[in-house]
Amino acid sequence: MHLLIPAAGSGKRMGADRNKLLLQVHSKPLIAWTLLATEAASSISWIGIVSQPQDWDEFKSIIADLKLKKTIELISGGSTRQESVYNGLQALPSHAKQVLIHDGARCLATPDLFNACSEAILNCFGLIAAVPVKDTIKVVDDNGIIRSTPERKQLWAAQTPQGFDVKLLKQCHAEGIRQGWEVTDDAALFEKCGIEVTIVSGEETNLKITTPQDLAIAEFILSYRE
Ligand code: C5P
Repeated sequence: MHLLIPAAGSGKRMGADRNKLLLQVHSKPLIAWTLLATEAASSISWIGIVSQPQDWDEFKSIIADLKLKKTIELISGGSTRQESVYNGLQALPSHAKQVLIHDGARCLATPDLFNACSEAILNCFGLIAAVPVKDTIKVVDDNGIIRSTPERKQLWAAQTPQGFDVKLLKQCHAEGIRQGWEVTDDAALFEKCGIEVTIVSGEETNLKITTPQDLAIAEFILSYRE
């Protein structure tokens, strides 16, 4: 299975002055934990990291230190996640039929989750790892007034990996550019194009590391796993 790792963001919401994936958690850069999980996932055979060229020296040195067996391609990132994935799709080998996309910032996803998604995408066109939401979710307007309360049993929190048929995902990205859609995950492009996306059971610990609090939780989970 081919895997693209969007890793070209900044550290803005983390309050960091550089790519948050280069910050240390449990004695390693955050992206190192993501790469160790992908290295251990037997289904993954090709990995592309989409990142800003200014970070490439650091990424190369992290990859070298981990002594990974799988080869990793570095691909230039875009100014949004959507653009970064688009660049990654152009860099896939031409024989790639399916692809998993996994945010570099989700450094706690397990090899089992990658393997489950790799297996499931062989039988559908699009999927995402997701977990049922535990909180009651409110839709709130710009004035801070609640407008509705969607039924909780229909709500799932989207995670990555997300898996797709490569040809369809490329078409959906191209349509997104044509229509000016701005989305925060790839499943949303499938949905907008009217293509079904299915759910694979995600993991409660598969957090997207966004704030310093998330970093502290990741530190705890990684030391607990050890
Ligand atoms: O900012 P956020 O954490 O939501 O980004 C999700 C993932 O997308 C992260 O792994 C981040 O590095 C990546 N990203 C990217 N290119 C961007 C912005 C974010 O690859 N321009």
